[in-house]
Amino acid sequence: MAGVSSKATRLSFKERPGFPGKCGMDQIRVVGGNPLKGVIPISGAKNAALPLIISSLLTSDTLTLENVPHLADVELLMRILGNHGVDISVNGRRERQSDGYARTIHFNCPTITETTASYDLVRKMRASFWVIGPLLAREGIARVSLPGGCAIGTRPVDLFIDGLKALGAEIEIEQGYVEARAPKGGLVGRHYVFPKVSVGATHTLMMAATLANGTTVLENSAREPEVVDLANCLKAMGAKIEGAGTPTISINGVTSLSGARHTVLPDRIETGTYAMAVAMAGGEVTLENTDASLLSAAIEAIRAAGAEITPTETGIHIIGHGDDIRPVDITTEPYPGFPTDLQAQFMALMTRAKGTSRIVETIFENRFMHVQELARLGADISLSGQTATIKGASELHGAPVMATDLRASVSLVIAGLAAKGETTVSRVYHLDRGFERLEEKLTRCGAIVERVSD
Ligand code: EPZ
Repeated sequence: MAGVSSKATRLSFKERPGFPGKCGMDQIRVVGGNPLKGVIPISGAKNAALPLIISSLLTSDTLTLENVPHLADVELLMRILGNHGVDISVNGRRERQSDGYARTIHFNCPTITETTASYDLVRKMRASFWVIGPLLAREGIARVSLPGGCAIGTRPVDLFIDGLKALGAEIEIEQGYVEARAPKGGLVGRHYVFPKVSVGATHTLMMAATLANGTTVLENSAREPEVVDLANCLKAMGAKIEGAGTPTISINGVTSLSGARHTVLPDRIETGTYAMAVAMAGGEVTLENTDASLLSAAIEAIRAAGAEITPTETGIHIIGHGDDIRPVDITTEPYPGFPTDLQAQFMALMTRAKGTSRIVETIFENRFMHVQELARLGADISLSGQTATIKGASELHGAPVMATDLRASVSLVIAGLAAKGETTVSRVYHLDRGFERLEEKLTRCGAIVERVSD
């Protein structure tokens, strides 16, 4: 395998140790009341790592990714890619790098051995549907299960299908599978306007277009930093891409891509989550290995709520006052707007504000499941359509609560940090999908947070 150190450990997925919370029986116990003080290293972004890993299907050379977070979603995706013929090796299971743990992982796919992604795997994580782009571009054929709905909304795949059709693919839906075929000479570069902004459809079409014949122009593309990160990695692999990070991305197809080495960008959602935790619980924390410019809208909202945030050379310094929080209205929007993935955490913060705030969710129709659980801690929140009205300053009291999705579950943990007494969050496997070593990071800052196994 080109470029892979001899120290690399090849992991058979049968041998992989499980995730602590994988059986779903673990709980997180939080005892509130301690301000947070210290340094929290921010991990590589889950939502960048997933498409980057999928892009390894586009080349027969080795793609090496650094700063890959150790998360259940990443492990699952690696299992899925193994099924398509990607050979994966990890340099030391967990290399110590700077202040955090980050892994360097090598992906090598000399031949795609399987062009079907089964329901059994795709239903567990929607992002695995995105393999349809690279499989179709490289092999000319892909059969990928429809992902189905999920807790936060129906989440259809119409934009992927329309977009791939625009590149010349013939697509049929048969027994729950999307069956796609490229024309004889391969996909064809075209002009496509997304009728709605979609992160996943932008990733997928951008990957597919790298190996198409001619130029593809994607309009109304998602502008998320993770799209830019994927474009940068694809460019390092030899793709010709311009405009990532703007609504218009232009891709000149090439005949093949090579290997590359790329570092996964910092997790802006993890960054915002800990910043909100400090704003809520009070204290003084430096978030290391991150970049304030990745989450300007969220930082503006946290500042408006009263926390002091100063960007540093390698991260963000934050001082939270805990008991002096101001109400702030927000509306979730595609990037650069306020991210839906921080909506639940911001709602937790607003439950302690002195006044009433409103949160409008415009991305997913059912992303308010944390409301009922926050109410169990004493929050006063009413819902009308896509708007939540939060009457702040309620004293929060610890209670048993249930995680319903990834971001909702962490909102309950940070609410627990500011609540009186003990909160236990069950269904912890949601947290393990997207927050690396959450208990350890918070405990090091003086919080009382522990994982309890049944
Ligand atoms: C990505 O999901 C993220 N996932 C989500 O993070 C994030 O919440 C979301 O973008 C929005 O920012 C990853 O990056 C792995 P979309 P994605 O396609 O790509 C509708 C988390 O907690 N839509 O941008 O699936 C869709 O239903 C997760 O880490 C269509 O209608 O989201 C939604 O309403 C959860 N048709 C809107 O577009 C389509 O074909 C935006 O979804 C595709 C999407």
